[in-house]
Amino acid sequence: MSELIANMTTTNTSQASQAHFESILEQRTSIGRYDASAQLDEEMVNELVRLACLAPSAFNLQNWAFVAVHSNAAKQRLYPLAFEQPQVLDAAVTYIVSGRMQGYKELNTTLQASVDAKIISEGVQKTWVEMASQTHQESDQARRDEAIRSASLAAMSLMVAAQEKGLASGAMGGFDAQAVKAEFALEEDSLPVILITVGVAGEGNWPQKVRKPLAQVLRTL
Ligand SMILES: Cc1cc2nc3c(=O)[nH]c(=O)nc-3n(C[C@H](O)[C@H](O)[C@H](O)COP(=O)(O)O)c2cc1C
Repeated sequence: MSELIANMTTTNTSQASQAHFESILEQRTSIGRYDASAQLDEEMVNELVRLACLAPSAFNLQNWAFVAVHSNAAKQRLYPLAFEQPQVLDAAVTYIVSGRMQGYKELNTTLQASVDAKIISEGVQKTWVEMASQTHQESDQARRDEAIRSASLAAMSLMVAAQEKGLASGAMGGFDAQAVKAEFALEEDSLPVILITVGVAGEGNWPQKVRKPLAQVLRTL
């Protein structure tokens, strides 16, 4: 059986290389220089977030929130809070991706849609609500970790979705989170985790940078 799987893998790999298959992850690069004349319509701005929300989250908490900084006026407000990084002005849109620290409090309602769709039972809904409450009620660290995990997965999903649509993207941690929270009136329990710029790449961007060899980052047991 393992021989069969090994053979299948070999066949798939050689088929893939014949087709010059590149994963979307191999195509994505971090864009800092955008074509400032390229715009995105609101439909696309919304669609990228809809796709980002297909990211998984613990108990399907969906404890994330997005602000799409799309208008010139909003970009001007974000620019100084992101240390005047020019991509905030030049990208078609910058998403402020936040994690919600109190998401567990509305988990029962959040899960009701999956109960109504007969995907999970009321028993699962109840158990998950209890488990999430137990974990999050007493621990600020747990609430914070979960907010960062969920927002990060959503942010990466957003970048992959953008790539799939033929757009370019970039992640930015260089911003003043407290100032962004105040300026954009984020919810009290929102933790701004990362900015994601999306648009059309301009000239002068680096190609994807070199990653560490697998042996340095992977242990298979
Ligand atoms: C958490 C995080 C924070 C980042 N912050 C910034 C930033 O503030 N400004 C910037 O130009 N790039 C930022 N980057 C982009 C990284 O420099 C980039 O992803 C890395 O160099 C790898 O580039 P590559 O994906 O194109 O190979 C950030 C990326 C991540 C994931």
